[in-house]
Amino acid sequence: MPETPENRRSILITGASGGFGLEFAKQLEPLGYRLILHGRDKPRLQMTMGALKYPDRHSIVLADLNARHGLSDLIAAVECEHLAGLVNNAGFGIWGTFEQTGIVPQIDIIKTDLKAPMALTHALLPGLLKQHGFIINVSSLAGEYPLPYMSAYAAAKAGLTYWSEALRTELNGRIRIVTLAPGPSPTGFREVSGMPSGPGSFFRTSIPVIIRACLHTLKKGGGYCVPGWRHKLLYTMQKVTPRSIGLRLMARQLSP
Ligand SMILES: NC(=O)c1ccc[n+]([C@@H]2O[C@H](COP(=O)([O-])OP(=O)(O)OC[C@H]3O[C@@H](n4cnc5c(N)ncnc54)[C@H](OP(=O)(O)O)[C@@H]3O)[C@@H](O)[C@H]2O)c1
Repeated sequence: MPETPENRRSILITGASGGFGLEFAKQLEPLGYRLILHGRDKPRLQMTMGALKYPDRHSIVLADLNARHGLSDLIAAVECEHLAGLVNNAGFGIWGTFEQTGIVPQIDIIKTDLKAPMALTHALLPGLLKQHGFIINVSSLAGEYPLPYMSAYAAAKAGLTYWSEALRTELNGRIRIVTLAPGPSPTGFREVSGMPSGPGSFFRTSIPVIIRACLHTLKKGGGYCVPGWRHKLLYTMQKVTPRSIGLRLMARQLSP
């Protein structure tokens, strides 16, 4: 592929070793950018690379966002890039009671899912603004409703959604921002969280549909994106169900 202004500019995708991150890479590559694929698992990041058409153009950065220097190492690794896009996608949740789940992994959820996107965005924003670029914050419908037995995850995603939407308004007209809020989806998320399959399976929506909807929202100038009709239905149910009833229903669904 010939060098163009577009492929000198790059996009950082965090959590690119599978799931949504892999699909973001597949759908963003045809736009011509150089992709920087971030994650912890090198072999799986290499599989993402192998799924792309021009692997030689892209690069991999390893960083554990919960490790002491993980965030600063990642920022240092991309500082000299002409970044046109930041996809804050890395994240995880844990299924279980607050009481019996260790506090360290629960705080790690807040670090990965909320602190890291905020810190990365703050560090990379000057360059992104210069490039008239974009930011995608991968939040969740978990950010729209308290989730018994996934309380730290819902708290992190509620924080991410509120921060992302406020930032989108502050920077309106200067940079495009998408707050992506999917519901249950067939990625590695469930296995990592320890949740058995079952709860929420009716609402499960395919990964390409979700990422296409997100990039469509980006193309329109940014916005809050609930992808696919199943996730939109779930979102509507969250909005119309009184919290006292919703909490009881969610507790019944998610109770270990
Ligand atoms: N799947 C769903 O149902 C769903 C619904 C709504 C929102 N989301 C959100 O979608 C995003 C992507 O998750 P996914 O569903 O695609 O799940 P996934 O397949 O498990 O992917 C999660 C990604 O996050 C990375 N990651 C996790 N902890 C990390 C850490 N401490 N440091 C660096 N990277 C870390 C993983 O990297 P390594 O594998 O390299 O460790 C992996 O690439 C997450 O923010 C998740 O909360 C998922």
